[in-house]
Amino acid sequence: KKSIADVDVAGKTVLMRVDFNVPLDDAGKVTDARRVEMALPSIKSVIDRGGRVILMSHLGRPEPGADNSKYSLKPAAEALAGLLSKPVAFATDTVGSDAVAKAGALTDGDVLVLENLRFEKGEKKGDAEFAGKLAALADIYCNDAFGTCHRTDASMVAVPEAMGDKPKVVGYLVDKEIKYLTDAIKSPQRPFVAILGGAKVSDKIMVIKNLLGICDKVLIGGAMAYTFSLAEGGKVGGSLVEKDKVDLAKELIAAGGDKLVLPVDTHCGDDFKSSCNKVVVKAGEIPDGFEGLDIGPETAKMYAELVKNAKTVVWNGPMGVFEMPPFDEGTKAVAQAIADSDSISIIGGGDSAAAVAQLGFADQVSHVSTGGGASLAMLEGQKFAAVELLDEK
Ligand code: 3PG
Repeated sequence: KKSIADVDVAGKTVLMRVDFNVPLDDAGKVTDARRVEMALPSIKSVIDRGGRVILMSHLGRPEPGADNSKYSLKPAAEALAGLLSKPVAFATDTVGSDAVAKAGALTDGDVLVLENLRFEKGEKKGDAEFAGKLAALADIYCNDAFGTCHRTDASMVAVPEAMGDKPKVVGYLVDKEIKYLTDAIKSPQRPFVAILGGAKVSDKIMVIKNLLGICDKVLIGGAMAYTFSLAEGGKVGGSLVEKDKVDLAKELIAAGGDKLVLPVDTHCGDDFKSSCNKVVVKAGEIPDGFEGLDIGPETAKMYAELVKNAKTVVWNGPMGVFEMPPFDEGTKAVAQAIADSDSISIIGGGDSAAAVAQLGFADQVSHVSTGGGASLAMLEGQKFAAVELLDEK
């Protein structure tokens, strides 16, 4: 796709869709600005070449018309001003009088952030009239919102459509994310190992199916392992399981053969607390009154060994309840093995990205995605309308 680097932006206004859907604390401060930081290359590329930037994003899932003050993008705009070390204008609406006035007042090198797009009904609806008003603010459209690329909200699809013949390009972040996530899948260096965790099989069905066709091994962890264990006739005690997905788990086990690797032991607790009574048992032998809360040490060792020998590793989803020590040990062992390996390592966003950051391994992996749902959708092999419709190089 054509990139923001390929267009002449001097004296022009670029309407850039970013994903500033960042966590805020009770005082309204951004607690993890990584998504803002990752948008800096595109923003700087425009202002450094004498262009003007209008940034638009959603934050959270507000209800249009309700009291949505806690979903304001103002804290993200302030975080951006800090990172850029220059003032950033903020409009209290998206297509209203404040946005139009502030967009009109921009001079070369200026940056304006619009209020949360989801304050308007038209955003989730993909409304053409709303999109037309946004498109009218600028000369160039840039999609640098990787975390939102699996959505078809107005700012992702209807706005670039409404730009007509004006340039519609990708930003540096979207370009980089797509390169890592699709190259890994199209022509991986082998052995290619995927590690999939998280609570629900239902969230990962399509990813498991797609990756079983591409990877040499797909390692399963997290609570979804207990649904697989049940499918094999194992005892899961009080573990979290999806009973209605047991048949599907059986199908995946049959289809996966020896590519699909399940835990051999489980770290269990008799309560959902760090201070509970703990026991390590063989997979499928969880006693009544206990629930599985992490992969066991044998599994962690086996997974680490498989990661060590891999040339490409993709990881999405924690191996256990990593926010509740000692049930973070399986996730830590996997993160450590990935950090120690020379493989091309791609970490899906969301919880696994948070785990890698929390453990301080972010610099030791090839790529940490800023997308949760979007990175999973890419691993499922989906194509994104929001990217497909952009200009070709
Ligand atoms: C995300 O955090 O996954 C993206 O910002 C998308 O948010 P959404 O799931 O509310 O559309």
